[in-house]
Amino acid sequence: PFEKKVDSILALMTLEEKLGQLNLPSSGDITTGQAQSSDIAKKIEEGKVGGLFNIKSVEKIREVQRIAVEKSRLKIPLIFGMDVIHGYETTFPIPLGLSASWDMEMIEKTARMAAQEATADGINWTFSPMVDVSRDPRWGRVSEGNGEDPFLGGEIAKAMVHGYQGSDLTADNTMMSCVKHFALYGAPEGGRDYNTVDMSRIRMYNEYLYPYKAAVDAGVGSVMASFNEIDGIPATGNRWLLTELLRDDWGFNGFVVTDYTGINEMIEHGMGDLQQVSALALKAGSDMDMVGEGFLTTLSKSLEEGTLSIDVIDTAVKRILTAKYQLGLFDDPYKYCDVSRPEKEVFTAENRAFARKVGAESMVLMKNDNNLLPLKKEGTIALVGPLANTAVNMAGTWSVATKQDKSNPLLEGLKTVVGDNAKVLYAKGSNVDYDLEFEKNVTMFGKAIPRDGRTDKQLLDEAVAIAKQSDVVIAAIGETAEMSGESSSRTNLEIPQAQKDLLNALLKTGKPVVVVLFTGRPLVLTEESKNVPAILNVWFPGSEAGLAISDVLFGDVNPSGKLSATFPRNVGQVPIFYNHKNTGRPLNHEKTENCQFEKFRSNYLDVCNTPLYPFGYGLSYTTFDYAQVKLNSQNMSKNGSIGVSVDVTNSGNYDGKEVIQLYIRDLVGSVTRPVKELKGFQKVSFKKGETRTITFTITEEDLKFYNYDLNFVAEPGEFQVFVGTNSDTKNMATFTLTDN
Ligand code: IFM
Repeated sequence: PFEKKVDSILALMTLEEKLGQLNLPSSGDITTGQAQSSDIAKKIEEGKVGGLFNIKSVEKIREVQRIAVEKSRLKIPLIFGMDVIHGYETTFPIPLGLSASWDMEMIEKTARMAAQEATADGINWTFSPMVDVSRDPRWGRVSEGNGEDPFLGGEIAKAMVHGYQGSDLTADNTMMSCVKHFALYGAPEGGRDYNTVDMSRIRMYNEYLYPYKAAVDAGVGSVMASFNEIDGIPATGNRWLLTELLRDDWGFNGFVVTDYTGINEMIEHGMGDLQQVSALALKAGSDMDMVGEGFLTTLSKSLEEGTLSIDVIDTAVKRILTAKYQLGLFDDPYKYCDVSRPEKEVFTAENRAFARKVGAESMVLMKNDNNLLPLKKEGTIALVGPLANTAVNMAGTWSVATKQDKSNPLLEGLKTVVGDNAKVLYAKGSNVDYDLEFEKNVTMFGKAIPRDGRTDKQLLDEAVAIAKQSDVVIAAIGETAEMSGESSSRTNLEIPQAQKDLLNALLKTGKPVVVVLFTGRPLVLTEESKNVPAILNVWFPGSEAGLAISDVLFGDVNPSGKLSATFPRNVGQVPIFYNHKNTGRPLNHEKTENCQFEKFRSNYLDVCNTPLYPFGYGLSYTTFDYAQVKLNSQNMSKNGSIGVSVDVTNSGNYDGKEVIQLYIRDLVGSVTRPVKELKGFQKVSFKKGETRTITFTITEEDLKFYNYDLNFVAEPGEFQVFVGTNSDTKNMATFTLTDN
């Protein structure tokens, strides 16, 4: 609808002004306090800037927009971006935690609320959702995504795009979404961030691309190219990826932005000098150059030399102008600059109350021997651990706008929730780790936990002393916020040794110990799962962390989170994921279950094939019983459907929610098929004692996959359907897909 308007502006633009629209500098306002492009104001005035990111507050944004629309020749408004990833100032759990809620309505609402707050503060474009499927917890950015499953990731992608963009992008409280990092960024070799990605097309199509496509199908306005290479060509300069797949096959018609200096980084990848890689990126389908200014400084030379045509530049410019029209910026460039909004709409009591609820919904109860949890609000409670009393870590990684110091630490939340009913004693117990170098490396964005002046022994002794005086001990341990996230890959997935030693000393006291585990990734909890009676995985719960954790610890909220990523027994098992292939030499079922080794089968000498905690796993304070899954027919024709039903009973002593999961297995295919694939789920509330019949419908669409020729087909034959409480379920029925 904006084509004519866009064309008429384009006709007025000089080459320099066109290149300016493709330029996205960082203001540096948030991350470093330093502008990363020199003299931004002057550049804006000269029409050399299309948008700005990392700038926060209505006042600052209004001032910068004023330069663009009052001082530049063509008065084209700027677009303002930011990493609004899991909330804005009101911060929700890290995305990996949010995904563990399996609650799409709630996740959409988090994005809606984030958009409301961010737009009230002047921002109209978010670099979210991040939907990179990852099966490698060594990779620090698993924290920013939705785990290992393409289907769950796709559902979340849709929910978030809808949440940010709403139904009307021109409204002043919706913002443009940017799905990232396109593509396959979650599969770097060795789990090392920014490392090479290399995978078959068939794996890409069947296992990694779906969530990006789901975001595109949901109408996402922009896409961010990833840093990694694909088939030997960095994504930023990969024409197959950014044009043939994204635009020609998927029909995407928004704009593509690079990830930061992704263009310049192609020099290091070995693709040429700045002029060459800039032209390569533009021709491939990158439209906007984040930070690097390769477009701004070299494309005119390529044009002169005839290695680039003006049409390619024009196409990119049109996409960016169209986005600005879609946001309504030409009608009112200050539409997000209402100074009265932030106070009324940002970090409000109502939003924080919602963050508290979301925090609790995301937590996963990993273990609960003898129903140690929920705790009673009585007696003496020892709260111990380096993560027990830190506000700045609670929001987790990539929370640039969070009110860090206003986050609610566990100690504070616990005291509020137990009130005068119980006595709370606190000791730090240990530093994050003994390894000072490691601690220094994970100290970013001011989220460090200051080292204690006391010796390790003094810290430990104090903790043991208060544990001995208490009825129960809560150990708040795990990773700090910046131990996961960008550039935070680890090869050791254990809780840091200083904290493990603390935990063992607490266990030795003989008091019941509950671990409140903070983590941005699946950790190796093999020892803890043996020795600790109760483990509550809280991820990084966001602004209201302490209250949310305490709500769950004391049973005001019954935990209902389920893992969206497999927890391995040791690092050597990685990558380990539920939807793997069977191989030609699988270990039989019994030996797998009993962890028995067999020579010349696909297994390890020194560890079982099974994970410590499977995908979809999570306990509740109540119990759920599943009856045998039933199908309404043994046969399904290609355009027919099959009804699946299962009776689920809340057989325990609490009301609670259960995520009922449906998996399929295609037993014979023209290419090998995974042993299980998630195809449906429902999060359902059950009253104590209640039985409900849960139904699903399977259609041909659910049975389709990309075959050797990359055609999306369903092949006739036998299928297994599993319905259960996690991906390890054996509750199964079979049916046959027939040709007609
Ligand atoms: O959006 C991010 C991306 O995820 C990593 N590089 C920087 C971008 C902008 O901050």
